[in-house]
Amino acid sequence: MGYLLVTGGAGFIGSNFVRRMLREHPERKMMILDALTYAGNLDNFSEEERSHPNFDFRHGDIRDPKAVADAMKGADQVIHFAAETHVDRSIDNADPFVSTDVKGTQVLLEALRRSDVERFIHISTSEVYGTAESVPMTEDHPLKPMSPYAGCKVGADRLAYSYYATYDLPIVIIRPFNNYGPNQFPEKLIPFFILNALQDKPLPMYGDGKNTRDWVFVEDCCEGLGRALAQDLAKLKGEVINLGTGKETNVLTITDQILTHIGKPLELKKFVADRPGHVKRHCASTAKAQKLLGWRAKTEFKVGLGKMIDWYVENERWWRNIIETKREYHEFTVRWYEETLPGGGRPRG
Ligand SMILES: NC(=O)c1ccc[n+]([C@@H]2O[C@H](COP(=O)([O-])OP(=O)(O)OC[C@H]3O[C@@H](n4cnc5c(N)ncnc54)[C@H](O)[C@@H]3O)[C@@H](O)[C@H]2O)c1
Repeated sequence: MGYLLVTGGAGFIGSNFVRRMLREHPERKMMILDALTYAGNLDNFSEEERSHPNFDFRHGDIRDPKAVADAMKGADQVIHFAAETHVDRSIDNADPFVSTDVKGTQVLLEALRRSDVERFIHISTSEVYGTAESVPMTEDHPLKPMSPYAGCKVGADRLAYSYYATYDLPIVIIRPFNNYGPNQFPEKLIPFFILNALQDKPLPMYGDGKNTRDWVFVEDCCEGLGRALAQDLAKLKGEVINLGTGKETNVLTITDQILTHIGKPLELKKFVADRPGHVKRHCASTAKAQKLLGWRAKTEFKVGLGKMIDWYVENERWWRNIIETKREYHEFTVRWYEETLPGGGRPRG
């Protein structure tokens, strides 16, 4: 038996997924292939996790055909998380998104053609749909990406599908809705707001704060991904499956819940100019995931958010290391909120 190759396993969802696998399937060998970009972080793992005999970390880039072919040589399953993932950064500069999300995925798919891999799980995203035209959003919802990140993820998602259709490869496409939870990189909305609240800084909401997303607790998402690796492949091959909760929450509500949970004044809420191409509404259909994976999200948003906040409070060293030492984090956040966002990103009230 070979190993499970996890691309992007040092990022937010990837590290939660690896941790879950070590806990639930300690006998399963894994190899993590990760370029450790600004978003990748080996601190996402404990010493104990890193020294587990079935945890094998390989530093490498998915755009490098040799590194990918080597990593795939002994694999029997692949789960492909690696990507540039921050919508705001893609508006600022789409180059790394085209290169990693599209080209990097194609390098993996080419290696898959020459491998004995039994199953390849491609991690896509709900961002491929754009704003909901009707809810709940099924897997047949039109693909209308609203940001360069989403456009590149559509490219990767449809490329993966085409390799299934053309070469009959064992590919399954999963579209998680917005994840939140421990180890999420501090530039993303929820951790950014938690950390600002903890540091008594303003929480800058885009537009009117009424945009909604379908928020999935990362533990639930990883459970669904585990099922996609374990279920009968004949049922899943070539399928696209949403992982969402079927419920939506707007940014204003999240902001209030964060400030209330931490015990900070609601006056820290600030409205700033809207992000260009902002998706207004997301809410997943959960029917296909229930039917094919027997999966449903278990965690109520308020409960998951509380667990996440408590994790950030208890893991101050982890996030201080990022916000105080990662130049890429600091430079981008300052440039984005002070210069790039229309209106200069200054609070409007
Ligand atoms: N976070 C979400 O809410 C969400 C929702 C739906 C789908 N997704 C998708 O899930 C996947 C993981 O998202 P995340 O939030 O954990 O991302 P992340 O930004 O936290 O992590 C991405 C990881 O990929 C690695 N990586 C980036 N470029 C690479 C390259 N060229 N070669 C090798 N490794 C590289 C990074 O070092 C990092 O470890 C992505 O494909 C993303 O599009 C995320």
